[in-house]
Amino acid sequence: MRRCVCPGSFDPVTNGHLDVIRRAALLFDEVVVAVAGNPAKKSMFRLAERVELIEQSLTDVPSVTVETVEGGLLVDFCRRVGAVAVVKGLRGGTDFAYELPMALMNRHLSGVETVFLPGEPRFEHVSSSLIKEVAAHGGDVSGLVPDHVLARLLERVGRVGQTENGQPDAAG
Ligand code: PNS
Repeated sequence: MRRCVCPGSFDPVTNGHLDVIRRAALLFDEVVVAVAGNPAKKSMFRLAERVELIEQSLTDVPSVTVETVEGGLLVDFCRRVGAVAVVKGLRGGTDFAYELPMALMNRHLSGVETVFLPGEPRFEHVSSSLIKEVAAHGGDVSGLVPDHVLARLLERVGRVGQTENGQPDAAG
């Protein structure tokens, strides 16, 4: 039984994240998605909401479970769940520069390896922070997040009753 951890803030989960998690599920017997608070980032969704949005996105992949990492180190979480590797997607060199020191530190601390998967080019421009910014300013992010995430996002930024392109929907 080989288990990996896919960690991140997932505030909220995007189709880019989901592509990486699904591909990780093809490589490992079990995937634990670890939803972490990041003190450097102001969050839009509570950890429990982020977990729920991810779970709703992956009901068709039974080998994936979703948990929160609150307050501790990722490597301790990996040890606790018995994961042999961390899996992360890379959209490009900037992601690599951000991820490499964390991967090396995690290996230094515990020996856990990090497996990098090349991000799907269709989602190269997709990040949770850009999704939130574009949605908050009335832009169309449909197709970049699952529909149930889009609905929650529009609700959170006060765009309920609008379609994704900012027009009133049929119900007004
Ligand atoms: O989606 P993000 O914000 O890039 O994810 C960053 C995350 C959650 C993977 C990273 O901050 C993390 O691993 N946090 C847990 C605390 C920890 O172990 N920090 C030291 C990392 S070397």
